Amino acid sequence: MNQKKIQTPALITIFGAKGDLTRRKLIPALYNLFIDNHLPPIFAVYCIDFLETDEAVFKEELLAGVNEFSRNGLAKENEWKEFAAKLFYIQGDFQDAGTFLSLKNIANSFDKHNGGRSTRIFYFATAPRFIEIIAEGLYKNKICSRVSLDRIVIEKPFGTDLASAKKLNLFLSKRFAEKQVYRIDHYLGKETVQNIMAFRFANYVFEPLWNNQYIDHIQISVAEQVSVGKRGGYYDSSGALRDMVQNHLLQLLCIVAMDCPGAYQAELIRDAKTKVLNSVRCYTDKEIFKNVVRAQYVAGTINGKPVPGYREEEKVSPGSGTETMVAAKFFIDNKRWRGVPFFLTTGKSMTRQVSVIVVQFKDSPNKIFKNDIVPNRLTISIQPELEISLLFETKVPGMKMKLQAVDMDFMYQDAYSESLPEAYEALLMDILEGDPTLFMRADQVEAAWKVVMPILKTWEKYPLKQLHFYPAGSWGPEAALKLIKPYADKWFQLPRIERM
Ligand code: BG6
Repeated sequence: MNQKKIQTPALITIFGAKGDLTRRKLIPALYNLFIDNHLPPIFAVYCIDFLETDEAVFKEELLAGVNEFSRNGLAKENEWKEFAAKLFYIQGDFQDAGTFLSLKNIANSFDKHNGGRSTRIFYFATAPRFIEIIAEGLYKNKICSRVSLDRIVIEKPFGTDLASAKKLNLFLSKRFAEKQVYRIDHYLGKETVQNIMAFRFANYVFEPLWNNQYIDHIQISVAEQVSVGKRGGYYDSSGALRDMVQNHLLQLLCIVAMDCPGAYQAELIRDAKTKVLNSVRCYTDKEIFKNVVRAQYVAGTINGKPVPGYREEEKVSPGSGTETMVAAKFFIDNKRWRGVPFFLTTGKSMTRQVSVIVVQFKDSPNKIFKNDIVPNRLTISIQPELEISLLFETKVPGMKMKLQAVDMDFMYQDAYSESLPEAYEALLMDILEGDPTLFMRADQVEAAWKVVMPILKTWEKYPLKQLHFYPAGSWGPEAALKLIKPYADKWFQLPRIERM
Protein backbone atom coordinates (compact mmCIF):
# COMPACT_ATOMS: atom_id res chain seq x y z
CA MET A 1 0.00 0.00 0.00
CA ASN A 2 1.28 3.49 -0.70
CA GLN A 3 2.49 5.20 2.40
CA LYS A 4 -0.51 6.90 3.94
CA LYS A 5 -0.35 8.55 7.28
CA ILE A 6 -3.14 10.29 9.05
CA GLN A 7 -2.19 12.68 11.81
CA THR A 8 -5.51 13.25 13.61
CA PRO A 9 -5.88 10.88 16.58
CA ALA A 10 -8.45 8.15 15.94
CA LEU A 11 -10.84 6.45 18.29
CA ILE A 12 -12.15 3.25 16.75
CA THR A 13 -15.06 1.46 18.38
CA ILE A 14 -16.10 -2.01 17.29
CA PHE A 15 -19.56 -3.19 18.27
CA GLY A 16 -19.68 -6.98 18.17
CA ALA A 17 -16.17 -7.45 19.47
CA LYS A 18 -16.59 -11.16 20.16
CA GLY A 19 -17.81 -11.95 16.65
CA ASP A 20 -16.05 -13.66 13.80
CA LEU A 21 -15.63 -10.53 11.71
CA THR A 22 -13.65 -8.79 14.44
CA ARG A 23 -11.34 -11.74 15.01
CA ARG A 24 -10.87 -12.81 11.38
CA LYS A 25 -10.89 -9.53 9.51
CA LEU A 26 -11.01 -6.29 11.48
CA ILE A 27 -8.28 -6.81 14.05
CA PRO A 28 -5.88 -8.50 11.60
CA ALA A 29 -6.49 -5.58 9.20
CA LEU A 30 -5.93 -2.94 11.88
CA TYR A 31 -2.85 -4.77 13.09
CA ASN A 32 -1.39 -4.84 9.57
CA LEU A 33 -2.13 -1.15 9.12
CA PHE A 34 -0.37 -0.55 12.42
CA ILE A 35 2.78 -2.51 11.60
CA ASP A 36 2.90 -0.94 8.14
CA ASN A 37 2.78 2.44 9.84
CA HIS A 38 -0.48 3.64 8.31
CA LEU A 39 -2.43 4.30 11.48
CA PRO A 40 -2.22 7.73 13.10
CA PRO A 41 0.39 8.14 15.84
CA ILE A 42 -2.38 8.27 18.44
CA PHE A 43 -5.21 5.78 18.27
CA ALA A 44 -7.23 3.41 20.42
CA VAL A 45 -9.56 0.55 19.58
CA TYR A 46 -12.46 -0.06 21.95
CA CYS A 47 -14.17 -3.38 21.43
CA ILE A 48 -17.68 -3.73 22.83
CA ASP A 49 -19.76 -6.83 23.39
CA PHE A 50 -22.24 -8.01 25.98
CA LEU A 51 -20.24 -11.03 27.13
CA GLU A 52 -18.26 -10.78 30.33
CA THR A 53 -14.63 -11.35 29.35
CA ASP A 54 -11.31 -10.75 30.95
CA GLU A 55 -9.50 -8.19 28.80
CA ALA A 56 -6.26 -10.15 28.77
CA VAL A 57 -8.06 -13.29 27.62
CA PHE A 58 -9.86 -11.26 24.96
CA LYS A 59 -6.56 -9.95 23.64
CA GLU A 60 -5.19 -13.48 23.51
CA GLU A 61 -8.17 -14.47 21.35
CA LEU A 62 -7.48 -11.55 19.04
CA LEU A 63 -3.82 -12.47 18.80
CA ALA A 64 -4.80 -16.01 17.84
CA GLY A 65 -7.02 -14.48 15.13
CA VAL A 66 -4.14 -12.39 13.81
CA ASN A 67 -1.83 -15.39 13.79
CA GLU A 68 -4.36 -17.44 11.89
CA PHE A 69 -5.80 -14.92 9.45
CA SER A 70 -3.32 -12.11 8.87
CA ARG A 71 -1.68 -12.04 5.44
CA ASN A 72 1.57 -11.35 7.29
CA GLY A 73 1.43 -14.61 9.22
CA LEU A 74 2.42 -14.79 12.88
CA ALA A 75 2.51 -11.51 14.78
CA LYS A 76 5.89 -10.41 16.14
CA GLU A 77 5.84 -10.32 19.93
CA ASN A 78 7.04 -6.73 20.37
CA GLU A 79 4.77 -5.36 17.64
CA TRP A 80 1.73 -7.15 18.99
CA LYS A 81 2.51 -5.90 22.50
CA GLU A 82 2.65 -2.33 21.26
CA PHE A 83 -0.58 -2.74 19.28
CA ALA A 84 -2.40 -4.59 22.07
CA ALA A 85 -1.68 -1.71 24.46
CA LYS A 86 -4.13 0.32 22.35
CA LEU A 87 -6.87 -2.32 22.50
CA PHE A 88 -9.59 -2.28 25.14
CA TYR A 89 -12.59 -4.43 25.90
CA ILE A 90 -15.83 -2.95 27.17
CA GLN A 91 -18.50 -5.28 28.40
CA GLY A 92 -21.79 -3.68 27.47
CA ASP A 93 -25.26 -4.45 26.25
CA PHE A 94 -26.15 -2.49 23.10
CA GLN A 95 -29.67 -2.04 24.48
CA ASP A 96 -28.42 -0.50 27.69
CA ALA A 97 -28.15 3.31 27.92
CA GLY A 98 -25.20 2.82 30.31
CA THR A 99 -23.08 1.35 27.49
CA PHE A 100 -23.33 4.58 25.52
CA LEU A 101 -22.72 6.76 28.57
CA SER A 102 -19.48 4.87 29.23
CA LEU A 103 -18.53 5.20 25.59
CA LYS A 104 -19.21 8.91 25.69
CA ASN A 105 -16.97 9.33 28.73
CA ILE A 106 -14.24 7.29 27.10
CA ALA A 107 -14.43 9.34 23.89
CA ASN A 108 -14.41 12.64 25.76
CA SER A 109 -11.45 11.73 27.93
CA PHE A 110 -9.57 10.36 24.90
CA ASP A 111 -10.01 13.75 23.20
CA LYS A 112 -9.11 15.65 26.34
CA HIS A 113 -6.02 13.60 26.90
CA ASN A 114 -4.88 14.06 23.30
CA GLY A 115 -5.53 17.76 23.15
CA GLY A 116 -8.32 17.90 20.57
CA ARG A 117 -11.16 16.24 18.82
CA SER A 118 -10.30 12.83 17.35
CA THR A 119 -11.73 11.06 14.33
CA ARG A 120 -14.35 8.66 15.66
CA ILE A 121 -15.14 5.45 13.82
CA PHE A 122 -18.00 3.25 14.98
CA TYR A 123 -17.91 -0.14 13.33
CA PHE A 124 -21.12 -2.18 13.49
CA ALA A 125 -19.75 -5.73 13.34
CA THR A 126 -23.01 -7.05 14.70
CA ALA A 127 -26.11 -8.90 13.59
CA PRO A 128 -28.34 -6.57 11.52
CA ARG A 129 -30.97 -6.40 14.26
CA PHE A 130 -28.64 -4.24 16.35
CA ILE A 131 -27.96 -1.58 13.72
CA GLU A 132 -30.84 0.70 14.63
CA ILE A 133 -30.34 0.17 18.36
CA ILE A 134 -26.66 1.12 18.23
CA ALA A 135 -27.30 4.00 15.84
CA GLU A 136 -29.91 5.37 18.21
CA GLY A 137 -27.55 5.06 21.20
CA LEU A 138 -24.82 6.98 19.39
CA TYR A 139 -27.23 9.61 18.18
CA LYS A 140 -29.05 10.20 21.47
CA ASN A 141 -25.80 10.55 23.36
CA LYS A 142 -24.30 12.81 20.69
CA ILE A 143 -21.25 10.59 20.42
CA CYS A 144 -21.19 10.60 16.63
CA SER A 145 -22.36 14.10 15.83
CA ARG A 146 -19.43 15.83 14.14
CA VAL A 147 -20.15 15.40 10.47
CA SER A 148 -16.58 15.95 9.35
CA LEU A 149 -14.97 13.60 11.91
CA ASP A 150 -17.44 10.96 13.03
CA ARG A 151 -18.35 7.92 10.90
CA ILE A 152 -20.40 4.78 11.25
CA VAL A 153 -19.59 1.63 9.32
CA ILE A 154 -22.34 -0.80 8.41
CA GLU A 155 -21.71 -4.32 7.18
CA LYS A 156 -23.92 -6.20 4.78
CA PRO A 157 -26.65 -7.38 4.67
CA PHE A 158 -28.02 -3.85 4.38
CA GLY A 159 -31.69 -4.76 4.69
CA THR A 160 -33.28 -7.95 3.50
CA ASP A 161 -35.24 -6.39 0.65
CA LEU A 162 -35.88 -2.99 -0.89
CA ALA A 163 -38.43 -1.92 1.73
CA SER A 164 -36.20 -2.77 4.70
CA ALA A 165 -33.16 -1.15 3.06
CA LYS A 166 -35.17 2.01 2.46
CA LYS A 167 -36.43 1.98 6.03
CA LEU A 168 -32.89 1.61 7.36
CA ASN A 169 -31.57 4.35 5.10
CA LEU A 170 -34.32 6.66 6.29
CA PHE A 171 -33.64 5.80 9.92
CA LEU A 172 -29.94 6.53 9.54
CA SER A 173 -30.52 9.68 7.51
CA LYS A 174 -32.49 11.19 10.38
CA ARG A 175 -29.54 10.70 12.70
CA PHE A 176 -26.41 11.06 10.56
CA ALA A 177 -25.36 12.87 7.42
CA GLU A 178 -24.96 10.56 4.41
CA LYS A 179 -21.24 11.35 4.34
CA GLN A 180 -20.93 9.80 7.81
CA VAL A 181 -22.39 6.45 6.73
CA TYR A 182 -19.96 3.89 5.28
CA ARG A 183 -21.85 0.88 3.90
CA ILE A 184 -19.22 -1.77 3.31
CA ASP A 185 -19.07 -4.19 0.42
CA HIS A 186 -15.68 -5.77 0.96
CA TYR A 187 -15.40 -6.78 -2.71
CA LEU A 188 -14.84 -3.13 -3.54
CA GLY A 189 -11.74 -3.13 -1.34
CA LYS A 190 -10.11 -6.04 -3.13
CA GLU A 191 -6.98 -4.89 -4.93
CA THR A 192 -7.92 -6.70 -8.13
CA VAL A 193 -11.36 -5.11 -8.14
CA GLN A 194 -9.98 -1.62 -7.56
CA ASN A 195 -7.61 -2.24 -10.44
CA ILE A 196 -10.50 -2.60 -12.90
CA MET A 197 -11.07 1.16 -12.79
CA ALA A 198 -7.41 1.76 -13.55
CA PHE A 199 -7.41 -0.87 -16.26
CA ARG A 200 -10.44 0.59 -17.98
CA PHE A 201 -9.93 4.30 -17.56
CA ALA A 202 -6.17 4.81 -17.39
CA ASN A 203 -5.53 2.84 -20.58
CA TYR A 204 -6.65 4.14 -23.90
CA VAL A 205 -6.74 0.87 -25.82
CA PHE A 206 -9.59 -0.97 -24.11
CA GLU A 207 -12.22 1.70 -23.54
CA PRO A 208 -13.03 2.34 -27.24
CA LEU A 209 -13.86 -1.38 -27.53
CA TRP A 210 -15.84 -1.51 -24.32
CA ASN A 211 -19.33 -1.54 -25.82
CA ASN A 212 -21.89 -3.53 -27.78
CA GLN A 213 -20.11 -3.02 -31.06
CA TYR A 214 -17.15 -5.16 -29.99
CA ILE A 215 -18.26 -7.15 -26.98
CA ASP A 216 -20.32 -10.29 -27.38
CA HIS A 217 -21.05 -10.96 -23.73
CA ILE A 218 -19.58 -10.62 -20.25
CA GLN A 219 -19.34 -13.26 -17.54
CA ILE A 220 -18.94 -12.49 -13.86
CA SER A 221 -18.39 -15.60 -11.76
CA VAL A 222 -17.78 -15.90 -8.06
CA ALA A 223 -17.59 -19.60 -7.28
CA GLU A 224 -16.83 -20.69 -3.73
CA GLN A 225 -15.64 -24.05 -2.58
CA VAL A 226 -16.82 -23.43 0.96
CA SER A 227 -20.28 -24.60 1.95
CA VAL A 228 -22.62 -22.61 4.17
CA GLY A 229 -20.93 -24.40 7.08
CA LYS A 230 -22.10 -23.04 10.41
CA ARG A 231 -23.96 -20.12 8.86
CA GLY A 232 -27.08 -22.13 8.00
CA GLY A 233 -29.24 -20.08 10.39
CA TYR A 234 -28.51 -16.88 8.52
CA TYR A 235 -28.12 -18.37 5.07
CA ASP A 236 -31.37 -20.29 4.95
CA SER A 237 -33.39 -17.08 5.06
CA SER A 238 -30.95 -15.30 2.78
CA GLY A 239 -29.80 -17.47 -0.11
CA ALA A 240 -27.20 -16.73 -2.75
CA LEU A 241 -29.19 -13.95 -4.42
CA ARG A 242 -29.30 -11.83 -1.27
CA ASP A 243 -25.95 -12.97 0.13
CA MET A 244 -23.82 -12.47 -2.99
CA VAL A 245 -25.67 -11.16 -6.04
CA GLN A 246 -27.43 -8.13 -4.54
CA ASN A 247 -24.11 -6.78 -3.33
CA HIS A 248 -20.80 -8.25 -4.50
CA LEU A 249 -21.79 -9.39 -7.99
CA LEU A 250 -23.82 -6.32 -8.81
CA GLN A 251 -20.96 -4.12 -7.63
CA LEU A 252 -18.63 -5.98 -9.97
CA LEU A 253 -21.17 -5.48 -12.73
CA CYS A 254 -21.19 -1.74 -11.99
CA ILE A 255 -17.42 -1.42 -12.25
CA VAL A 256 -17.34 -3.34 -15.49
CA ALA A 257 -20.26 -1.55 -17.09
CA MET A 258 -20.08 2.03 -15.77
CA ASP A 259 -19.23 5.00 -17.93
CA CYS A 260 -16.05 6.87 -17.17
CA PRO A 261 -16.82 9.35 -14.39
CA GLY A 262 -15.87 12.99 -14.96
CA ALA A 263 -13.14 12.67 -12.30
CA TYR A 264 -11.86 10.16 -9.76
CA GLN A 265 -14.23 11.53 -7.18
CA ALA A 266 -16.48 9.64 -4.80
CA GLU A 267 -19.81 11.14 -5.83
CA LEU A 268 -19.12 11.00 -9.56
CA ILE A 269 -18.04 7.38 -9.33
CA ARG A 270 -21.02 6.44 -7.23
CA ASP A 271 -23.33 8.29 -9.64
CA ALA A 272 -21.90 6.33 -12.57
CA LYS A 273 -22.39 3.02 -10.77
CA THR A 274 -25.92 3.83 -9.69
CA LYS A 275 -26.76 4.71 -13.28
CA VAL A 276 -25.76 1.19 -14.33
CA LEU A 277 -28.02 -0.41 -11.72
CA ASN A 278 -30.90 1.80 -12.75
CA SER A 279 -30.51 0.62 -16.34
CA VAL A 280 -30.61 -3.11 -15.60
CA ARG A 281 -33.66 -4.58 -17.30
CA CYS A 282 -36.40 -5.88 -15.01
CA TYR A 283 -37.95 -9.20 -15.94
CA THR A 284 -41.49 -10.52 -15.70
CA ASP A 285 -42.16 -13.81 -13.80
CA LYS A 286 -41.94 -15.78 -17.01
CA GLU A 287 -38.70 -14.11 -18.08
CA ILE A 288 -37.21 -14.77 -14.66
CA PHE A 289 -37.62 -18.52 -15.04
CA LYS A 290 -36.03 -18.24 -18.47
CA ASN A 291 -33.11 -16.01 -17.50
CA VAL A 292 -32.34 -16.79 -13.88
CA VAL A 293 -31.33 -20.26 -12.71
CA ARG A 294 -31.41 -21.17 -9.04
CA ALA A 295 -29.92 -24.31 -7.61
CA GLN A 296 -29.02 -26.01 -4.36
CA TYR A 297 -26.16 -28.37 -3.61
CA VAL A 298 -26.75 -31.95 -2.65
CA ALA A 299 -24.20 -34.30 -1.09
CA GLY A 300 -21.05 -34.65 -3.13
CA THR A 301 -17.28 -34.77 -2.92
CA ILE A 302 -14.84 -31.92 -2.42
CA ASN A 303 -11.10 -32.54 -2.50
CA GLY A 304 -11.77 -36.26 -2.35
CA LYS A 305 -13.88 -36.00 0.80
CA PRO A 306 -17.61 -36.65 0.99
CA VAL A 307 -19.53 -33.53 2.01
CA PRO A 308 -23.18 -33.16 3.00
CA GLY A 309 -25.93 -31.59 0.96
CA TYR A 310 -27.33 -28.18 1.84
CA ARG A 311 -30.44 -29.58 3.49
CA GLU A 312 -28.26 -31.63 5.85
CA GLU A 313 -26.33 -28.56 7.03
CA GLU A 314 -26.75 -27.27 10.60
CA LYS A 315 -29.79 -25.01 11.12
CA VAL A 316 -31.07 -25.51 7.57
CA SER A 317 -34.64 -26.64 7.21
CA PRO A 318 -34.79 -30.19 5.78
CA GLY A 319 -37.18 -29.16 2.98
CA SER A 320 -35.45 -25.85 2.31
CA GLY A 321 -35.91 -24.25 -1.09
CA THR A 322 -33.10 -21.74 -0.52
CA GLU A 323 -30.76 -21.36 -3.47
CA THR A 324 -27.05 -21.86 -2.87
CA MET A 325 -26.24 -21.06 -6.47
CA VAL A 326 -27.53 -18.51 -8.94
CA ALA A 327 -26.79 -18.06 -12.62
CA ALA A 328 -28.47 -15.13 -14.31
CA LYS A 329 -28.51 -13.30 -17.57
CA PHE A 330 -28.97 -9.56 -17.25
CA PHE A 331 -29.21 -6.81 -19.83
CA ILE A 332 -28.28 -3.19 -19.35
CA ASP A 333 -30.60 -1.09 -21.43
CA ASN A 334 -28.45 1.82 -22.41
CA LYS A 335 -26.69 2.89 -25.57
CA ARG A 336 -23.36 1.31 -24.68
CA TRP A 337 -24.66 -2.11 -23.67
CA ARG A 338 -27.92 -2.66 -25.54
CA GLY A 339 -28.05 -6.33 -26.58
CA VAL A 340 -24.97 -7.48 -24.62
CA PRO A 341 -25.84 -10.12 -22.04
CA PHE A 342 -24.10 -10.00 -18.68
CA PHE A 343 -23.98 -13.47 -17.19
CA LEU A 344 -23.58 -13.50 -13.42
CA THR A 345 -23.09 -16.62 -11.38
CA THR A 346 -22.18 -17.51 -7.84
CA GLY A 347 -22.46 -20.61 -5.75
CA LYS A 348 -21.30 -22.42 -2.65
CA SER A 349 -19.74 -25.90 -2.45
CA MET A 350 -18.42 -25.74 -5.99
CA THR A 351 -15.37 -27.39 -7.52
CA ARG A 352 -13.00 -24.69 -6.45
CA GLN A 353 -12.87 -21.08 -5.38
CA VAL A 354 -12.57 -18.70 -8.29
CA SER A 355 -13.74 -15.15 -8.95
CA VAL A 356 -13.32 -14.05 -12.48
CA ILE A 357 -14.65 -11.49 -14.94
CA VAL A 358 -14.53 -12.47 -18.58
CA VAL A 359 -15.08 -10.03 -21.41
CA GLN A 360 -15.77 -12.03 -24.55
CA PHE A 361 -15.16 -9.97 -27.66
CA LYS A 362 -17.00 -10.61 -30.93
CA ASP A 363 -15.59 -12.66 -33.73
CA SER A 364 -13.26 -10.84 -36.09
CA PRO A 365 -15.01 -9.80 -39.30
CA ASN A 366 -11.84 -10.59 -41.28
CA LYS A 367 -12.28 -14.09 -42.57
CA ILE A 368 -9.04 -14.51 -44.46
CA PHE A 369 -7.67 -17.56 -42.63
CA LYS A 370 -8.70 -21.15 -43.08
CA ASN A 371 -8.41 -21.80 -39.36
CA ASP A 372 -11.28 -21.48 -36.93
CA ILE A 373 -10.54 -18.33 -34.99
CA VAL A 374 -11.12 -18.05 -31.28
CA PRO A 375 -12.42 -14.53 -30.63
CA ASN A 376 -10.40 -12.37 -28.23
CA ARG A 377 -11.19 -12.81 -24.61
CA LEU A 378 -10.11 -10.70 -21.69
CA THR A 379 -10.02 -12.45 -18.33
CA ILE A 380 -9.73 -10.50 -15.10
CA SER A 381 -9.03 -12.95 -12.30
CA ILE A 382 -9.94 -11.51 -8.94
CA GLN A 383 -9.09 -14.46 -6.70
CA PRO A 384 -7.35 -16.72 -5.86
CA GLU A 385 -5.27 -16.08 -9.01
CA LEU A 386 -4.56 -12.39 -9.43
CA GLU A 387 -4.07 -11.74 -13.09
CA ILE A 388 -5.37 -10.17 -16.25
CA SER A 389 -4.97 -12.05 -19.48
CA LEU A 390 -5.91 -11.41 -23.07
CA LEU A 391 -6.47 -14.29 -25.41
CA PHE A 392 -5.40 -13.60 -28.96
CA GLU A 393 -4.55 -15.48 -32.11
CA THR A 394 -0.98 -16.11 -33.23
CA LYS A 395 0.69 -17.94 -36.05
CA VAL A 396 2.15 -21.25 -34.97
CA PRO A 397 5.83 -21.24 -35.97
CA GLY A 398 6.44 -23.33 -39.09
CA MET A 399 5.94 -23.42 -42.81
CA LYS A 400 2.16 -23.22 -42.79
CA MET A 401 -0.15 -20.36 -41.80
CA LYS A 402 -1.66 -22.22 -38.89
CA LEU A 403 -3.18 -20.22 -36.06
CA GLN A 404 -3.43 -20.80 -32.36
CA ALA A 405 -4.86 -18.74 -29.52
CA VAL A 406 -2.44 -17.80 -26.73
CA ASP A 407 -2.69 -15.73 -23.57
CA MET A 408 -0.92 -12.45 -22.90
CA ASP A 409 -0.65 -12.19 -19.15
CA PHE A 410 -0.25 -9.68 -16.39
CA MET A 411 0.35 -11.45 -13.08
CA TYR A 412 0.44 -9.39 -9.91
CA GLN A 413 3.10 -11.54 -8.31
CA ASP A 414 5.46 -11.00 -11.26
CA ALA A 415 4.87 -7.28 -11.60
CA TYR A 416 4.76 -6.28 -7.94
CA SER A 417 6.81 -7.69 -5.14
CA GLU A 418 4.86 -6.30 -2.19
CA SER A 419 2.14 -8.42 -0.63
CA LEU A 420 -1.28 -7.01 -1.47
CA PRO A 421 -3.29 -5.37 1.30
CA GLU A 422 -6.43 -7.19 2.34
CA ALA A 423 -9.74 -5.61 1.31
CA TYR A 424 -10.46 -4.67 4.92
CA GLU A 425 -7.14 -2.87 5.27
CA ALA A 426 -7.86 -0.70 2.24
CA LEU A 427 -11.40 -0.01 3.38
CA LEU A 428 -10.50 0.80 6.99
CA MET A 429 -7.87 3.18 5.73
CA ASP A 430 -10.42 4.93 3.53
CA ILE A 431 -12.81 5.23 6.46
CA LEU A 432 -10.10 6.78 8.61
CA GLU A 433 -9.33 9.23 5.83
CA GLY A 434 -12.99 9.98 5.20
CA ASP A 435 -12.96 8.74 1.61
CA PRO A 436 -16.31 7.14 0.70
CA THR A 437 -15.42 6.24 -2.92
CA LEU A 438 -15.43 2.48 -2.31
CA PHE A 439 -18.54 2.46 -0.14
CA MET A 440 -22.16 2.17 -1.10
CA ARG A 441 -24.27 5.27 -1.05
CA ALA A 442 -27.89 4.97 0.10
CA ASP A 443 -29.34 5.22 -3.41
CA GLN A 444 -26.82 2.67 -4.71
CA VAL A 445 -27.91 0.05 -2.20
CA GLU A 446 -31.54 0.69 -3.01
CA ALA A 447 -30.89 0.50 -6.75
CA ALA A 448 -29.19 -2.87 -6.23
CA TRP A 449 -32.20 -4.13 -4.28
CA LYS A 450 -34.44 -2.95 -7.12
CA VAL A 451 -32.55 -5.22 -9.50
CA VAL A 452 -33.06 -8.36 -7.44
CA MET A 453 -36.56 -7.65 -6.06
CA PRO A 454 -38.53 -9.04 -9.04
CA ILE A 455 -36.51 -12.26 -8.79
CA LEU A 456 -37.00 -12.56 -5.04
CA LYS A 457 -40.72 -11.95 -5.40
CA THR A 458 -41.14 -14.49 -8.18
CA TRP A 459 -39.20 -17.11 -6.29
CA GLU A 460 -41.26 -16.44 -3.20
CA LYS A 461 -44.42 -16.87 -5.24
CA TYR A 462 -43.16 -20.19 -6.65
CA PRO A 463 -40.96 -21.53 -3.85
CA LEU A 464 -39.69 -24.73 -5.44
CA LYS A 465 -40.39 -24.18 -9.13
CA GLN A 466 -37.32 -24.87 -11.23
CA LEU A 467 -35.07 -25.25 -8.23
CA HIS A 468 -32.19 -27.26 -9.66
CA PHE A 469 -29.73 -29.40 -7.76
CA TYR A 470 -26.00 -29.91 -8.19
CA PRO A 471 -23.60 -32.21 -6.38
CA ALA A 472 -21.27 -30.42 -4.00
CA GLY A 473 -17.89 -30.20 -5.69
CA SER A 474 -19.32 -29.64 -9.17
CA TRP A 475 -19.64 -26.49 -11.30
CA GLY A 476 -23.41 -26.39 -10.88
CA PRO A 477 -26.42 -27.79 -12.71
CA GLU A 478 -26.87 -28.36 -16.44
CA ALA A 479 -29.42 -25.51 -16.47
CA ALA A 480 -26.65 -22.95 -15.76
CA LEU A 481 -24.72 -24.26 -18.72
CA LYS A 482 -27.82 -24.11 -20.92
CA LEU A 483 -28.32 -20.48 -19.96
CA ILE A 484 -24.95 -19.51 -21.35
CA LYS A 485 -24.90 -21.95 -24.26
CA PRO A 486 -26.01 -19.67 -27.07
CA TYR A 487 -23.08 -17.39 -26.25
CA ALA A 488 -20.35 -19.68 -24.97
CA ASP A 489 -19.55 -23.32 -24.58
CA LYS A 490 -18.88 -22.86 -20.91
CA TRP A 491 -18.64 -20.54 -18.00
CA PHE A 492 -15.04 -19.42 -18.02
CA GLN A 493 -14.56 -19.88 -14.32
CA LEU A 494 -12.41 -22.91 -14.94
CA PRO A 495 -8.68 -22.77 -14.35
CA ARG A 496 -6.96 -21.30 -17.40
CA ILE A 497 -5.66 -24.56 -18.68
CA GLU A 498 -9.20 -25.98 -18.83
CA ARG A 499 -10.61 -22.77 -20.28
CA MET A 500 -8.56 -22.82 -23.49
C1 BG6 B 1 -19.73 -12.62 2.20
C2 BG6 B 1 -20.83 -13.65 2.12
O1 BG6 B 1 -20.24 -11.33 2.02
O2 BG6 B 1 -18.76 -12.87 1.18
C3 BG6 B 1 -20.25 -15.05 2.24
O3 BG6 B 1 -21.75 -13.42 3.16
C4 BG6 B 1 -19.16 -15.27 1.23
O4 BG6 B 1 -21.26 -16.04 2.08
C5 BG6 B 1 -18.13 -14.14 1.28
O5 BG6 B 1 -18.54 -16.51 1.53
C6 BG6 B 1 -17.16 -14.25 0.14
O6 BG6 B 1 -16.12 -13.34 0.31
P1 BG6 B 1 -14.67 -13.65 -0.23
O7 BG6 B 1 -13.90 -12.40 0.03
O8 BG6 B 1 -14.17 -14.83 0.54
O9 BG6 B 1 -14.82 -13.97 -1.68
